[in-house]
Amino acid sequence: MTRFIAVSNRRGGVGKTTTTMMLAYGLSVLGFQRTLVIDLDAQASTSITMMGHERWRLAKEHGKTVGDMLVEMFADDELDLEPYIAPQVGDVCIMPGRRRPALDVMPASFELDNREREILLMNANAGPTIEAVFSKLQKNVARILRSLNGRYDIVLMDCPPGLSNVAWGALGAADFVVIPYIPDATAEDNVGWFAARLAELDPAKRVRVLANRVRPNSAFQAGIMDSINNIHPSLGLAMPIRSAIAGALEFRSHPQPIRSKFGDGMIVVERLFNAMLAWFEEAGAETAAAAGAKAREKLEEGVL
Ligand SMILES: Nc1ncnc2c1ncn2[C@@H]1O[C@H](COP(=O)(O)OP(=O)(O)OP(=O)(O)O)[C@@H](O)[C@H]1O
Ligand SMILES: [Mg+2]
Repeated sequence: MTRFIAVSNRRGGVGKTTTTMMLAYGLSVLGFQRTLVIDLDAQASTSITMMGHERWRLAKEHGKTVGDMLVEMFADDELDLEPYIAPQVGDVCIMPGRRRPALDVMPASFELDNREREILLMNANAGPTIEAVFSKLQKNVARILRSLNGRYDIVLMDCPPGLSNVAWGALGAADFVVIPYIPDATAEDNVGWFAARLAELDPAKRVRVLANRVRPNSAFQAGIMDSINNIHPSLGLAMPIRSAIAGALEFRSHPQPIRSKFGDGMIVVERLFNAMLAWFEEAGAETAAAAGAKAREKLEEGVL
């Protein structure tokens, strides 16, 4: 069974991409989970920083991005997503000098928004109202993403700021939604609004908030986090503001051990990883220990 995780917030710059990448490296390297990251943001930061420029440009040239996939998806109900997946990405190895983790990416390109627009225009007459056309796109996106079920242990979806139809589709496909936020004056309203929309989408949706860019000893930020945590379930950690975490968005052409990549941000990767495993367990999925043992076996058999 695949766990589909969306990392989303309507607000920009709160750490969605950073969190997605930390989860991707944590789950694939520390947890030996077969992990796919889907970049749903036309800024393509996740794609570029996980694949490096060269591979990303090739994927664009060959029409192997999420935007291309969306166009094909409308022409072909049974579209196979495999050709849109760039295998074995990232700049981290499992052990020094050893092979890379089972970490793949479905990249975005700057054209993603335009592709969405084209699809909506092409299908403008397909429904009785424009709302029905939006809804069809959202449902199709959710359906096609869920067609990956069983191929990976984890599918992580990095959502764009704002809430496009594609983002709503991904939120529909998600079993788990992580909402990173910066604890500032607008956070409570912003997180509250988004959590309410998610509850409308599906009252049973599993949603947790995650404070990011937290400064040590800020009573103001602590107060905001308390108010938010009183209302919304939290992942149970706060990500500090740290330059090593910002460094996660750099791509190095030579794979390095995960501890070298994240430096003193590694403790946060480990906490995030443990928080996700605890959440999976609470959600009634296979226990983390069982999943870890199975994954290690696969690694030893050379399947990974
Ligand atoms: N905990 C942190 N400490 C230091 N820098 C951080 C931290 N989290 C995020 N950043 C930096 O903040 C900026 C925004 O982060 P990121 O790109 O992850 O946000 P985002 O929500 O994905 O943005 P967008 O809405 O544009 O997609 C980046 O430069 C990132 O390196
Ligand atoms: Mg982002």
